[in-house]
Amino acid sequence: MRKADRAPVGSLTCPNPGERPDLWPWSARRVDGVLRVGGVDLTRIACEFGTPTFVLDVEGLRGRARVWASAMAEEFWDGYGMRGGDAFYAGKAFLSADVARLVASEGLGVDTASLGELTLALRAGVDPKRIGLHGNNKSDEEIRLALESGIHRIFIDSMDEVRQVERIAAELGVAAPVMVRLKSGIHAGGNEYVATAHEDQKFGLSLATGQALEAMAAIARAPHLDFRGLHSHIGSQIFGTRAFSQAARIVIDFAARLRDELALGVPAIDLGGGVGISYTGQDPVPTSPVEVARVLADAVRERCAHHGLPIPHVSVEPGRSIAGASMVMLYRVGAIKDVSLEGGGVRRYVAIDGGMSDNIRPVLYDAAYTATLANRDCPAQPGALARCRVVGKHCESGDIIIRDVDLPGDIAGGDLLVVPAVGAYGYSMASNYNMVTKPGVLAVEDGAARWFVRPQTVDHLLALDAGLA
Ligand code: LLP
Repeated sequence: MRKADRAPVGSLTCPNPGERPDLWPWSARRVDGVLRVGGVDLTRIACEFGTPTFVLDVEGLRGRARVWASAMAEEFWDGYGMRGGDAFYAGKAFLSADVARLVASEGLGVDTASLGELTLALRAGVDPKRIGLHGNNKSDEEIRLALESGIHRIFIDSMDEVRQVERIAAELGVAAPVMVRLKSGIHAGGNEYVATAHEDQKFGLSLATGQALEAMAAIARAPHLDFRGLHSHIGSQIFGTRAFSQAARIVIDFAARLRDELALGVPAIDLGGGVGISYTGQDPVPTSPVEVARVLADAVRERCAHHGLPIPHVSVEPGRSIAGASMVMLYRVGAIKDVSLEGGGVRRYVAIDGGMSDNIRPVLYDAAYTATLANRDCPAQPGALARCRVVGKHCESGDIIIRDVDLPGDIAGGDLLVVPAVGAYGYSMASNYNMVTKPGVLAVEDGAARWFVRPQTVDHLLALDAGLA
């Protein structure tokens, strides 16, 4: 039995924006029963822009980016004996030109992980010196673009890549700025698929097997590789600070080995992303960026003192904790069906006009979400609520967005359903399954709305079909 099935009836009501600002956009509030984000009523959005639509609270995104930038600047300030700190936004969570410019204007860099993300960040006008390139299997084309555009750092992920980047840098006659991604051995993260530092997974060079040291020796000998530092990303949707602190210590301990065994200095380290967020209001309250930055600073300071090492510059790569709660998904309710259960009782299936193509996370990770109505109040009395299962419109019975959520018992076709915390890995993992078009991302701020990403149309889909005129 799944956890959600065991939860007592009535406990799955969606907390209101004011009660859980960690779950909702900062600007979200109910006015006369209608949910408003960025000063725009969601009912107006449904009428003018249609559903489903991702609605992005610009102020919230900017604010969360700013909090990370200032936390890192403060905790790693030179005045505290540190060597500076900063944040790179992990574009994989959600990237558009406006988002790239917005985080850049708050002082963050942008981390990319594909030709598409890198090209977008460059075309959006992000300073190449503030862009990083990740990936466990980078193409020559990706590396070439990174080197030709002069980006800040390429994260080396394998021994093969040491040779690949050296070869391309030699061809271009440049020195490639590289950081080395370590596999620290730490097992953390909200789901097996998003834990990225234990031995038996594809990312990073293993400390335990000596791979990382071997790669470092090769990099030190390579004439066209400019070693900039070490990197560690342990996983995603992590609560608390222990795993982050452990990883920081492991990275600094390895820096000491590099000094002792290869006479190499480590000017910078990047400690990745991974800070968890709320999805339902029943999950733990997330750790604040300030707390994470402080814990990292303490760990770095302590281990550097222990080894007599100079303190490196420290960066982090938050994605989810910036984008996640800044977006809500607005669906329109369609068909409603009461289904009788084998053991007795009924389950109410509420179908919405999107589904697993705009949010694959429930299917992929068993991720839990919550929802409320956007067009009218959700009564607080349990008697007025009905336990519902929110499902999409795709041709799969597993197309479930929310397994159990309490919604008004009189929910009906035409109601607007809003799901919070979809800003990270929602749009960016969307698909065209069943040839369903991807919703747009509508940015709202100060009572105005504009597209950050326009909705796809069927014509966009058909344009690639070589069999159509
Ligand atoms: N840095 C690196 C090298 C990463 O691989 C990731 C995420 C991040 C930073 C950002 O992590 P965040 O702060 O967003 O947790 N699709 C999954 C998450 C995959 C994360 C992949 N890497 C999900 O929907 O939960």
